[in-house]
Amino acid sequence: MSIDSSMVSYYAERAAEYERIYRKPERQADLRQLRNLVETEFSGTDVLEIACGTGYWTKVLARSAASVFAIDINEEALAIARSKPGNRQRVTFQRADAYALSMLPRRFTGGFSGFWWSHIPKAGLRSFLQGFHHALSSGAGVTFIDNAYVEGSSTPVSRTDEQGNTYQVRKLADGSTHEVRKNFPTKAELFAAVDGLATDVKVEFLQYYWILRYVSRMDA
Ligand SMILES: C[S@@+](CC[C@H](N)C(=O)[O-])C[C@H]1O[C@@H](n2cnc3c(N)ncnc32)[C@H](O)[C@@H]1O
Repeated sequence: MSIDSSMVSYYAERAAEYERIYRKPERQADLRQLRNLVETEFSGTDVLEIACGTGYWTKVLARSAASVFAIDINEEALAIARSKPGNRQRVTFQRADAYALSMLPRRFTGGFSGFWWSHIPKAGLRSFLQGFHHALSSGAGVTFIDNAYVEGSSTPVSRTDEQGNTYQVRKLADGSTHEVRKNFPTKAELFAAVDGLATDVKVEFLQYYWILRYVSRMDA
């Protein structure tokens, strides 16, 4: 899977303003629920976090995890993540590509990623998951959280490509516009994506977000 350079530069430019999305008033009840779940789910585990961005969720993980190893492709985002006081203890940040995790030791007892799944091309989802699971110890608990599409609240989908990936045109504070792949999987698609790779699969849709939780299979 090759790195999507337009998406990478979009998030580099957006790093400073990224966390505004976590301030939307109507989303606070859901976000509280997600923070509680993430903190509880990873208590005492050694977590690998994929695409940590500015470290919003890293900070939540660090409240209860034994350790967090958080990767992102963008130094701009990692610099913000590293500057957060809550992220200094028990957290290691490293610049790395989510599609090339084979250099990581297979030692993590938990795997987490927030708002990354939706950016993965559908055709590359399976190989991403296999690479991710390869870095986890057998039976590791995995959680993904991401956006549900909410009419009137989500940025509208601008187009769908031949593989069924959907895109949004997004505007940054400097007025620049960027087309970003953003998929909104159904519950059935989430179950299908991890079929054969996971056990104890649970999918939950809140008003604005979805949660996928499972135990990674030792042989997958
Ligand atoms: C929607 S943001 C999510 C950030 C953070 N997880 C959060 O929920 O606040 C997506 C992140 O993916 C990162 N990213 C894009 N391509 C990547 C890749 N190939 N490997 C690792 N991170 C990548 C971007 O730099 C960006 O920080």
